[in-house]
Amino acid sequence: MIYFDNSATTQPDPEVLRTFTAASQAFFANPSSLHGLGIEADRLLGRAAQQVAELAGMPDGTVVFTSGGTEANNQALFGFARANAGHGRRILISSVEHPSVLNTAEQLEAEGFEVLTVGTDGNGRLDLSDLERKLSQKTIVVSIMHVNNETGAIQPLEEAGRLIRRKAPRAVFHSDTVQSYGKLAIPGGPDGPDAISVSAHKFHGLKGSGALILKRNAQIRPYLFGGGQQGGLRSGTVPVAHAAALAKAMRLAEEARGELQFGEWRDELIRFFGGWDKVRVLGGPESAPHILSVAIRGIRGEVAVNALQEKEIYVSTSSACSSRSRSESHVLRAMRIDEDFRHGVIRLSFGRQNSREEILRFKEVFAEFMDTIERV
Ligand SMILES: Cc1ncc(COP(=O)(O)O)c(C=O)c1O
Repeated sequence: MIYFDNSATTQPDPEVLRTFTAASQAFFANPSSLHGLGIEADRLLGRAAQQVAELAGMPDGTVVFTSGGTEANNQALFGFARANAGHGRRILISSVEHPSVLNTAEQLEAEGFEVLTVGTDGNGRLDLSDLERKLSQKTIVVSIMHVNNETGAIQPLEEAGRLIRRKAPRAVFHSDTVQSYGKLAIPGGPDGPDAISVSAHKFHGLKGSGALILKRNAQIRPYLFGGGQQGGLRSGTVPVAHAAALAKAMRLAEEARGELQFGEWRDELIRFFGGWDKVRVLGGPESAPHILSVAIRGIRGEVAVNALQEKEIYVSTSSACSSRSRSESHVLRAMRIDEDFRHGVIRLSFGRQNSREEILRFKEVFAEFMDTIERV
């Protein structure tokens, strides 16, 4: 089989599984326990946190281990908004954020915060002048994703960061890097984000594990309350083995990043899709190398997904989390994709286990599929 749905989730790397099993067996104790086993587990947890912070480019930062990207984004928005409410009420997000940011912002709006949405252009790239217009001294949180999960559009984080620092110096700049971590370098330095969210299962780690990593000076409040674990930031017994496995997955992803050939495959496929008037590539060569979404005129995306599946090729419609709901994608709407293309979107997303041979096989099968639909 050929699995091109790595933006939905990836197959875990066997090395990550080994780390998880070994840590679960040898360091099963509760890291909050006072006895020697607890202290050893806590030491491993501390090492994992340090590695995660370093691999995220924030060696002095704080790591909050979470259950994944959704929780990291919830923690970021609730935590930064509530901690900084004394300076203002305005929160800015882009119109193409993942639902875990969009719906959290909606909750904050219901709590009395002012949420403004920053638009994008036809390629799904952030409109920087709209951002500039909406930033103010009263802005306390700005959340802009790095790579869009539906189209692969890369957001100009450094340019956004420069505007944020100038026009809203007190704002915390958060970025959902769930789709970019391990594929692109995360912008660091003074214009880079103050906090990023990562999710292990998007880079060959385990589902149910992720982190919010924040710079030391970013003010945050917890949003899960209980026994006060993780410095009071996220209560609940800390899953030490998950933390160790996340650090391993991040290290493997970073080590492999330079070797990935996704960009060549993406460019080859863009040329290939250019052979049909009915097929439109969303995003294009300036998008992330591992995500390629195309819209096919006059069909529903599910038809292509099913036809490819018959040949054991697995892709998704625009995004796995929304593909089972019949509602239209907010990202495609924000990009103003024509009605007759909008329903026929399929997304290919590559992972470390894919190969060039699989791209060639995909081309063969897709060409057969296009022949069939052109005949009817
Ligand atoms: C951009 C983005 N953010 C957040 C998430 C949520 O991550 P998780 O599945 O770990 O909750 C996803 C998952 O699809 C995503 O693509």
